[in-house]
Amino acid sequence: MVLQEETNKELLEKEAHRLYGLLGSVSRSKGVKWTLQDCQQAAPYTLAINRLKKEKNAVILAHSYTVPELVYGVADFSGDSYALSRKAETVSADIIIFAGVWFMAETAKILNPSKQVIIPAGHAGCTLADAITEEDVRKLKAAHPGVPVLCYVNSTAGVKAESDVCVTSGNVFNIAANMPQKELIFVPDLLMAQNIEADLKRRGIAKKIISSGGSCCVHDKYTPQDIEALRRQYPGIKVMAHPECRPDVCAAADYVGSTKGMTDYVAASKDKLFGALTEFGLVNRLEAEYKDKTFIWPYGTCAYMKRNTLINTFQALSAPKPEQIVSLSPDVIARARKSLQNMFEMTK
Ligand code: 13P
Ligand code: SF4
Repeated sequence: MVLQEETNKELLEKEAHRLYGLLGSVSRSKGVKWTLQDCQQAAPYTLAINRLKKEKNAVILAHSYTVPELVYGVADFSGDSYALSRKAETVSADIIIFAGVWFMAETAKILNPSKQVIIPAGHAGCTLADAITEEDVRKLKAAHPGVPVLCYVNSTAGVKAESDVCVTSGNVFNIAANMPQKELIFVPDLLMAQNIEADLKRRGIAKKIISSGGSCCVHDKYTPQDIEALRRQYPGIKVMAHPECRPDVCAAADYVGSTKGMTDYVAASKDKLFGALTEFGLVNRLEAEYKDKTFIWPYGTCAYMKRNTLINTFQALSAPKPEQIVSLSPDVIARARKSLQNMFEMTK
């Protein structure tokens, strides 16, 4: 569907200024901030999307790693995987436009199956979710009978259906510590598994973690040398890292936590200068919301998340293509839902 250009110049200018008020402090790329001209280019799309949303009774949920013009221009709610999954559960609109990656849109469908869930990016993968299949999990369970399976939320619906408890980066350490068993299977993040082991050790809990899977192609790139370089160049900087980073990176950081955890850390801190070893989208959110603080981001963008744009969001809302619509079997939904509900229970 072609965008019907808004002809009301006054409305367009007002929208561009609204966007500029939100995005003016945000980096578009490293060292380059959003300009009023950038916002003037985005305005016809944000106006059209926000209008279509009402006509179609749709809501837009956007992960913080997607682009800021989606997060601040059109999203009804944005946040990390945990917050988005809780929000998806309670959506009453007919359509959920999920700007994120495929496993996140699947999670929204599992939690609110009567809604049409559409992902503008289509089948946007994730190196973690793509690292393991449900068949792999069945094999692990057969090799370790009776050992409960914890799956990181960055996993397919099929993997969630084979697991006992789903976890996110915000609750994984507490859930792993609180599980009564002495052995746990954890998939599909090998680095996070090592971080769980280190955390359990710090808490004095003896527990064996059997892990399998891969790593996040964004967070696995950071090294302790990146942190050293930040500390050398910016004395006093507080360095934050996501638990998908290597254990030696987590050990060298001042704070390790989820997307929400890092945001809360910044909000509570009196410090003004932060190093962010995480995806650029979160850096953009921090720049937008904590204008009195400075964020140094070495590198790291998720190409999968960035496949969601204003253009394909407009198209998906107007006339979704079959590959943008999430469809899951009722059996997978029912079984995967259990692992998510177990997580919600254990996060209370
Ligand atoms: P959060 O759970 O912190 O939203 O992280 C999701 C993700 O994909 C991290 O790379
Ligand atoms: Fe997956 Fe990493 Fe992208 Fe998150 S940042 S969606 S873990 S590839």
